[in-house]
Amino acid sequence: MQRDSVANTFLVAGLLCLVCSFLVSATAVGLRPLQEANKRLEMRKNILQVAGIYDPSQSVDELFKQIETRLVDLTDPQNPVEVDDPKLLETYDPRKALSDPELSVPFPEGGKLEGFKRRGKYAFVYLVKKNGKLDEIILPIYGKGLWSTLYGFIALDADFRTIRGLGFYEHGETPGLGGEVDNPHWKALWNGKKAYDENGEVAIAVIKGAVPPNDPAAEYKVDGLSGATFTSKGVSRLVRYWLGDYGFGPYLRKLREELGHG
Ligand SMILES: Cc1cc2nc3c(=O)[nH]c(=O)nc-3n(C[C@H](O)[C@H](O)[C@H](O)COP(=O)(O)O)c2cc1C
Repeated sequence: MQRDSVANTFLVAGLLCLVCSFLVSATAVGLRPLQEANKRLEMRKNILQVAGIYDPSQSVDELFKQIETRLVDLTDPQNPVEVDDPKLLETYDPRKALSDPELSVPFPEGGKLEGFKRRGKYAFVYLVKKNGKLDEIILPIYGKGLWSTLYGFIALDADFRTIRGLGFYEHGETPGLGGEVDNPHWKALWNGKKAYDENGEVAIAVIKGAVPPNDPAAEYKVDGLSGATFTSKGVSRLVRYWLGDYGFGPYLRKLREELGHG
């Protein structure tokens, strides 16, 4: 076959494509474990940040040793049960579960999270320990804002009432408007607020505008983001949902009894 014949050109181009596609797929497959490890590390970092114990000078995995991870079956919201399956604890991916019919369930009657058809069967709960004693509880939260789903964590004090932190690690709200959920000043407003009232009912809410300093219920209210009422309402709704009776509420009550706290 002549070097510059049409057949030879196609043969060389075809072989080149084959070699390149092999290289690309081999790289993708080869890098997958590294990507998974990075994803896990990033998630741990987010949890440490919301817990207020992230320290860039220390290894994330080392810091994470203060945290006990539990997996809770929330299929029946009134009867949350801990799942003691090491494999599931290692492999359960709450995001993937949402679109997996085996690992997701329909919402319980009356307990729907707006914008979603199903919810994960299980949820992780992170217990931050200090000197062997519970110091904080970190709960994963998600829900719709204006344009996107916001994914984050909320930290509760060991009194099971006081908020110690809130942060979203992923969302698609508009920078400068809804995107201000990432503003450290706004996030700091959550610290010290009370999630539940004296009767144990969810009381925390994001309001429109600023909380008046003399408001007797100020401890249950967080300033709304200006120019982003929809995102603010979304955050309020999702936080209240996950703290409530169809979210982690019953599990938190159970945990408090188990640990004899609050
Ligand atoms: C391009 C564009 C992006 C916007 N992004 C957001 C957003 O991310 N979150 C939000 O709540 N409102 C966003 N808004 C504003 C809403 O449409 C609405 O005006 C606003 O939430 C009302 O809030 P306010 O009552 O505080 O002014 C956006 C508006 C425009 C034009």
